[in-house]
Amino acid sequence: MNWDAFLAPYAQAVEELKVKLRGIRKQFGLESSHSPIEFVTGRVKPVKSILEKAELKQVTSFEQIENEIQDIAGLRIVCQFVDDIYQVAEMIRERNDLTIIAEKDYIKKNKDSGYRSYHQIIEYPVETIHGKKIILAEIQIRTLAMNFWAINEHSLNYKYKGRIPVEIKSRLKRAAEAAFKLDEEMSKIKKEIQEAQRIFHHK
Ligand code: GTP
Ligand code: MG
Repeated sequence: MNWDAFLAPYAQAVEELKVKLRGIRKQFGLESSHSPIEFVTGRVKPVKSILEKAELKQVTSFEQIENEIQDIAGLRIVCQFVDDIYQVAEMIRERNDLTIIAEKDYIKKNKDSGYRSYHQIIEYPVETIHGKKIILAEIQIRTLAMNFWAINEHSLNYKYKGRIPVEIKSRLKRAAEAAFKLDEEMSKIKKEIQEAQRIFHHK
């Protein structure tokens, strides 16, 4: 087996799930009600990153990679408000086209880095020409503020090859707390904001 063949069902899953999750946003729009989803992105992990992770986890075969690396297919759902995250997580739990096998709440308990998000690991069936293939995928659900922080921190991690200087690390932690404060403040005026957005939407 080659990488293209190995990754094909993952690419299929990412494309299908992007359509399905974006469909949720569209449906809320049709009913003129607040969509808990702001936008959805998805990606297949690059081969180089898969190999790096495989080495860390000491896995060698495609079969082990399939089971041990759970984010080869990755979906990201970005929300306006923290409440929306839990609403989206519940909607995904209720779906019949996938199975949740693990959930991690890094919002109630953020990571040491300052990272916040809600993660779901799912099993998702893809129809292939050889029949049904069940793959694992990771769904990350976060607010715009959490996303802003995570993409910046990710860039710095990339730049410093995972060894961010302590000075910058502590700034990042403070930035994470500031981002969370922003989410909390916005939550307090959520109704006002939604009312304004409804009026704007009708115009
Ligand atoms: P790994 O994916 O090997 O880390 O497995 P794990 O079981 O430790 O998963 P974890 O839930 O810690 O992280 C899964 C994914 O969440 C990562 O691949 C990142 O996309 C994201 N993530 C976790 N921690 C951080 C962080 O500190 N900063 C950023 N930017 N992203 C993070
Ligand atoms: Mg990790």
